[in-house]
Amino acid sequence: MAGMSRCLAVLLLLSLSDAQLMRRDSSRAASRRSRLQGALREALAKVSAEQVLFVEESLRDSYEAFPKDAKGNLPPHSALPALARAYFAKEHGWLIRGLESPGAPIIAPGESYREATQGHGAGDLYEVHALQDKAPELAAALKEAALSPVASSRGMSLADISQTVAALEQILLEESVGLLRAAYVLNELESDMDRVPAPITVEDAHEVLLSYLLLFRHGLPHDLEDAKKHLQMKLRARKTSEWKGMQSFEAQALNSSGKLAWTDLKERVMLLAKLYGRWQNRECEDMKSTLVKMGDSGRVKLNDFHGSPKYPQYQFTEKEEYLQQAGILEEENGEKYVLIANYLLGASNCIASSEYFAVCCLNECETLLNHFEASFQMPGAALEQVQHLASELNASAVSELSSAADASGVVVWHSPAFRRWLHRAFPLQCPRPTALEDEAVEAELTEAKEWMEIDEAARQKLHPLVLHPSECTRLPEWHETPEESAALEV
Ligand SMILES: *[C@@H]1O[C@H](CO)[C@@H](O)[C@H](O)[C@H]1NC(C)=O
Ligand SMILES: *[C@@H]1O[C@H](CO)[C@@H](O)[C@H](O)[C@H]1NC(C)=O
Repeated sequence: MAGMSRCLAVLLLLSLSDAQLMRRDSSRAASRRSRLQGALREALAKVSAEQVLFVEESLRDSYEAFPKDAKGNLPPHSALPALARAYFAKEHGWLIRGLESPGAPIIAPGESYREATQGHGAGDLYEVHALQDKAPELAAALKEAALSPVASSRGMSLADISQTVAALEQILLEESVGLLRAAYVLNELESDMDRVPAPITVEDAHEVLLSYLLLFRHGLPHDLEDAKKHLQMKLRARKTSEWKGMQSFEAQALNSSGKLAWTDLKERVMLLAKLYGRWQNRECEDMKSTLVKMGDSGRVKLNDFHGSPKYPQYQFTEKEEYLQQAGILEEENGEKYVLIANYLLGASNCIASSEYFAVCCLNECETLLNHFEASFQMPGAALEQVQHLASELNASAVSELSSAADASGVVVWHSPAFRRWLHRAFPLQCPRPTALEDEAVEAELTEAKEWMEIDEAARQKLHPLVLHPSECTRLPEWHETPEESAALEV
C-alpha cells in the first residue's frame, strides 16, 4: 500500500503539471478498469456466453430502472448488491451468505433458523463468503470498485454487473461437484475422494445423482463418509411420496445410454443445481395454497397457523418469537396474524443449507416489480401512468397507489412507499417490508442521488489521477507483485 501511494503522489504531481500527460491518461483510465475485467475474465472462463446473456436479460429491467449517469453506469455501492440479491432470489431462490437482505436473520451454515442472529445493514458484494474464498481477486476488484472514490465514481455498467453475477452463480454451482464426489464414494463406486472416478453405467449414474440430490437437500451438517448410513437414508427416502418427483427431476439431467465419464456427471450435477431452485418451489406453492385456504387477504390467524395438522413435507411450527423477529407477524385488534408472503420468503423455509448459500422459496415479488421497471425503464413514473399499469394487475388496489407517490406526484419503484403498496396489492407475492429494509431502500436512494450529483467534470478530473500499482511503470523488483498486494487487500 505504501508503494502505491508513493507512485500515486508522483503521478498526481505530474498529471497536474503536464497537460500532455492528462490526455494520455484516458488510455490509462481504460487500463485501470481492467482490474475488474481481468478478474471477471478469469472467473468467467467456464461460463457460457449464453448464460451471461441470460443473466443480463434477467437483470436488465431492474438495471434500466436505476438512476444512471450519462454513460449508463450505476453507483456500485448499493445497486450492485441489491441487483445481485434480487437476481438470485427470483431465479433460484438462493440466499447467499454475506448477501442477506438488510436486517434479515443471518443463519450460519448448518444451523437452523432458530439459531439465527439479527443482521444489520446491507452487505456489499465483495463481502460474499463464496467470492472471498473462491475468487479472491474478483472480491478485491469489487471492493476497489465499491470503495475507492475514483473507481466508485465511475460506476458499473450492465455488462460489469451481469458478468459479476454470472461469475458468482458459477462458483456456487461448482460447489455441487464436491457432493458429487461424495455420492460416488457413498455408492461404493469409488473409494478415494481424491481420485478422478472411472466411467460408470447409466444405472449407477442415476444412483449417484439421486444420492447427490439427497445430500444437497439435506444440507449441512453432512456425513459424507458413512456409506451404510447414507444407503439407509436413501432407502427411507425411496419410501416417501417425494421420491417419484425426485426421480423424474433427476432423470431430466440424464437420458443418455452407454458409460458416463466423471466430466459428464459433473455437467449433469451442475445442471441439477441450476434447476433445483425452481423445482423445489413446488413445495412453496403447495404451502402457499394450504395457507391461503386457512386465512384471507394474504394472512392467517396465528392460532390457525399453529393449530394446523402436520403435512408430509412441511409443518407450521415456527415459534411466535421467530415470527415476530423476522417481521412475519402482524397484530390487529388484539388478533395476531401470520403474513403469508413474509412467511414463505422467511429463513425457516430455506433448505439445502451449505457453506455459501441456502435454497429458499422463489421471490415472485421481484418479478412483479420488474413488470413496473420494464414498462417505464426509469426509476419511477407519474402517478396516473402507474395507476394505468396497476389497473391491469389488481384493479382494486389502484386507489391506494396515491399514498405511494412522492410530493411531486411521482411513484419511485425503489422507495419504501411503493414497496408497501406492492404488499397491499399482491399480499401473496410481496412481503411487507421491515423497518430495516425501508432504511436500506432509503439509503440506496440517497446514495444514488449523491452519486448522480458528482458532476461529469469532477469525475473527469478525478479519473486521471489515480493509478493501480500494477500500472506504475517504475516498480522496483523488490515490490510486491499485483497478486500479493491483491491478497493483502482482501
Ligand atoms: C434429454 O432428452 C431431451 C429430449 O429427448 C432433450 O431435450 C434433453 O436435452 C436431453 N437432456 C440431456 C441432458 O441430454
Ligand atoms: C388486490 O388489492 C386489494 C387491495 O389492496 C387486496 O385486498 C387484494 O387482496 C388484492 N388482490 C389480489 C388477488 O392480490
